[in-house]
Amino acid sequence: MSVLPHQNPNETDSVTQPQPAGELSEAPLTALGKAAREFKLGNVTLNGRVFLAPMAGYTDTAFRRLARRHGAAMVVTEMVSSRALLAGSEKTSDLMEFTEPERPVGIQLFGGDPVIMGEAAAKVAEEVKPDVIDINFGCPVGKILKCDAGAAVLKEPQRAGWIVEAMVKATEGKMPITVKTRAGYDAMDNAVFEVLEAVQDAGASALAIHARTRNQMFEGKAHWEVIARLKVKAKIPIIGNGDVKSAEDAYRLFKETNCDGIMIGRGSMGAPWIFEEINHYLETGKPMRAPSLKFRIGVALEQLKCSIEVKGPRLGLLEMRKHLTHYLKGFEGARDMRQKLLTSDDADWVVKSLGEIYESLPESEL
Ligand SMILES: Cc1cc2nc3c(=O)[nH]c(=O)nc-3n(C[C@H](O)[C@H](O)[C@H](O)COP(=O)(O)O)c2cc1C
Repeated sequence: MSVLPHQNPNETDSVTQPQPAGELSEAPLTALGKAAREFKLGNVTLNGRVFLAPMAGYTDTAFRRLARRHGAAMVVTEMVSSRALLAGSEKTSDLMEFTEPERPVGIQLFGGDPVIMGEAAAKVAEEVKPDVIDINFGCPVGKILKCDAGAAVLKEPQRAGWIVEAMVKATEGKMPITVKTRAGYDAMDNAVFEVLEAVQDAGASALAIHARTRNQMFEGKAHWEVIARLKVKAKIPIIGNGDVKSAEDAYRLFKETNCDGIMIGRGSMGAPWIFEEINHYLETGKPMRAPSLKFRIGVALEQLKCSIEVKGPRLGLLEMRKHLTHYLKGFEGARDMRQKLLTSDDADWVVKSLGEIYESLPESEL
């Protein structure tokens, strides 16, 4: 049984009530020329401008369902190897599995060879039928760079265009091909602008930009000014990404860069309701009340149950642990219990215990 009332992702206001404190002194986003929630990504119309960023090891089907239900306009799978996909890898098929309520959903592919990426895209379009195919041109990890994939294209921007061109051709316009990259490789130079030019000329429908260089990995601050500069040059929508942890951050990112949409990664860990909070703030200028511990435990329990249902008790619990550490951050008072919940190998016990904690918390508890 779901512990949460089912929410329509198209409605923002249903979990918590706005409170007057902390209202925006400036006009909300609706007055910044982004009045409509509607966002066009090629031939796909999205009902919002705030997306869940792909995160390997995190954005599985259980988490994506929650993100969509709590207002994410689109979700993307964990990255999938184009070579493994063509080789028929079972693990890759599992990574690409999604449910209808997750739509609109993107499958993210990585690879460095235009021919293989084209073939992989055709197979995804034909067999998996997502709404969007996204390309990972941002991964900074050595084993991905070694295959000329991920952020490696920032060293050879033309190849980004060849890959997009091959994928657009292979999918025959059936779905948008989007790109996600970084602000640069070693430094913030012209490479990302060359990538933009190459991919938009090749038919990409949007460019998402994690505003850090490959060298920065996930350290230091995201350079939002690069997003603003790309937006000035772009003929396709620019989706800004990096360091959005709150509704106020989201507002600032839109305002400072004029980007068309934003993506949230780490800020959604243990907090898939962040999309709803952002949508609400952007549209009304008013913050939502912080969710109660009961609400947060309820969402965690729902994700855990889904994770176990999809992956089985052992893997389902194991993979949920990193999410649970985030969900249980406000649970510091009960340190022993928190520790047990985060270390137990007994999925039934963790579900039962979280359920009991949920039941014991008062509705109004903050
Ligand atoms: C654990 C983890 C896994 C990630 N996996 C991917 C991935 O598979 N594909 C991708 O394009 N980006 C990936 N990213 C990068 C995020 O999508 C995002 O660009 C980055 O975290 C910056 O956004 P944030 O500050 O909102 O987290 C990952 C990030 C993290 C933290």
